[in-house]
Amino acid sequence: MLEHLARKLTRKEKQGSSVEFDSSGPVPNHLAVIMDGNGRWAKMRNLPRIAGHRAGMKTVKEIVKASDEIGVKYLTMYAFSTENWKRPREEVDFLMKLPQEFLSTELEELIERNVQIRMVGSKDELPAHTLKALETAEERTKQNTGLQLIFALNYGGRKEIALAVKDIGTRLQAGEIDLEQLDEEMISRHLYTSDIPDPDLLIRTSGELRLSNFMLWQLAYTELWFTDVLWPDFTREHLYQAIAEYQGRARRYGAV
Ligand code: IPE
Ligand code: IPE
Ligand code: MG
Repeated sequence: MLEHLARKLTRKEKQGSSVEFDSSGPVPNHLAVIMDGNGRWAKMRNLPRIAGHRAGMKTVKEIVKASDEIGVKYLTMYAFSTENWKRPREEVDFLMKLPQEFLSTELEELIERNVQIRMVGSKDELPAHTLKALETAEERTKQNTGLQLIFALNYGGRKEIALAVKDIGTRLQAGEIDLEQLDEEMISRHLYTSDIPDPDLLIRTSGELRLSNFMLWQLAYTELWFTDVLWPDFTREHLYQAIAEYQGRARRYGAV
């Protein structure tokens, strides 16, 4: 299936045509991506896993540009989960260097594109160099009004909800709020994504059909799209294909 699709796309690209979505139709306001399959991509080539992460970084660059060009307003990229610390030390070290590497080559262009860079996740456990790269990027792009590029780094959906509950509990204890005020809206406002709308479309690559602790609260009514394509092989054509399918979905939100 995967190879079949890849062949089909290659053939189409050679013919000069490409996958199309309706450019006057709805484009997801918030696109969230679980970038998965870097390790398997490398393994298939007898390369170390980190080679897959480096290749995956190129895909990030391409998908950021493509998303910006088609009018996505918020793009969240799941780059490192709270569970990914379980990986071998060398791999974690490499992943923690990727934000610097990415930003050192991309930040100027992203500034030119009016992109605002942000991070969601727990900053506490991050190495100082990783945090510094991200905070510099956040600081230098905070006035930008274009695409919001959000890196989910050391992000865990359950941790995020637990922290929100703790914050709300503290405010309750201090008498700043009443129990009657506690509703969905209040919980949303205490998440990392307090000022970010819920994702409209979630893409996960590499054939895994799970959320892996990503945006558990926010994905309640998100359209899900899975592909067998590994993240380093993911192209803008695949993105267009996902958007074309998104445009064909009926979002009912429980109504008829
Ligand atoms: C996704 O690729 C990147 C991160 C989770 C950081 P993986 O590294 O999970 O690749 P696979 O799933 O092992 O192929
Ligand atoms: C999810 O991928 C995390 C990121 C893409 C950053 P994983 O590869 O860590 O997920 P599992 O372990 O297969 O569920
Ligand atoms: Mg994986």
